[in-house]
Amino acid sequence: MESPHIPVLLEEVLSTFDDIKCGSIVDCTLGYAGHSSAILTHNKNVNLIACDRDDEAIKFSSCRLKEFAGRVKIYKSRFSEILNKIDTKEVRGILADIGVSSLQLDKDDRGFGLKSEILDMRMDKDSQISAFDVVNFYDEDRLAQIFRDYGELANAKQIASKIVLARRNGEIKSASELANIIGTKFLKNRSISPATLAFQAIRIEVNNELAELETLLDAIENSDIDDCVVAIISFHSLEDRIVKTRFKKWAKSCICDNVAMRCTCGNNHSKGEIITKKAIMASSKETKENPRSSCAKMRVFKILRGNNAR
Ligand SMILES: C[S@@+](CC[C@H](N)C(=O)[O-])C[C@H]1O[C@@H](n2cnc3c(N)ncnc32)[C@H](O)[C@@H]1O
Repeated sequence: MESPHIPVLLEEVLSTFDDIKCGSIVDCTLGYAGHSSAILTHNKNVNLIACDRDDEAIKFSSCRLKEFAGRVKIYKSRFSEILNKIDTKEVRGILADIGVSSLQLDKDDRGFGLKSEILDMRMDKDSQISAFDVVNFYDEDRLAQIFRDYGELANAKQIASKIVLARRNGEIKSASELANIIGTKFLKNRSISPATLAFQAIRIEVNNELAELETLLDAIENSDIDDCVVAIISFHSLEDRIVKTRFKKWAKSCICDNVAMRCTCGNNHSKGEIITKKAIMASSKETKENPRSSCAKMRVFKILRGNNAR
């Protein structure tokens, strides 16, 4: 089956999970099953549990993975909830390739792209808030905060006020209209436009993306998952920072206050080890073939046997 999405860092993902010879791997972001199908082919005795919140992705991948029937279980779920739905005892690997798929970005009727004729951006079409609601009904301060926090835009206030001004002429109905209001010219000394960054911010808000990631990490932290490799691929600095900070916390053995004179915590709190001291990034060959891989960063943590048991 021809896939509408090229999986990023595929070789690196496979070598990360290479040592897993039994049990199951959870793919939190099934998408178009690029990683999942390669893992099932590569790790012959491993089962796969996968989830996605997007119906189109689930439908495509259920079909793509048919040849592995018996080894695969697919859930329509947010990944923040997946560990509550499965038996985690046998889980030896967890992969999350967060963000949007190429199909979501490219398909006009999903409303993610700058040229789209609609304004939607919901990964799960059943979820309540769409980009249309954010753009047309959030007040100016809230819009500015989103652009600042999730788009890291220096002129967040100005963009929010342009949107509120444009709303006086009626609802903003399409992504292309919104992009023109915000501005599609590249920012000074950067090869990205304010519209692209503002769209990223709106998408994060609509899909609650940062809270989803934090909750997934909480779920791993509070689970009894043991002897397991956790690999997270992120596409912007906000997500990468969350992953990096959490892995550092998991690696810490002593959790005493920094100013404590001596350790009283038992110095045995580490869950395991950070495998990637520096995030893994796509090779120049991969970025040439798939430019979307250029911002991908993968961080890997190994939860060691006995360290995470409650
Ligand atoms: C970058 S794509 C994954 C592509 C996949 N690895 C492949 O090889 O085809 C990200 C996918 O994660 C899904 N997704 C993003 N956030 C999610 C969440 N919180 N819960 C479930 N699925 C999510 C999106 O719908 C999208 O299909």
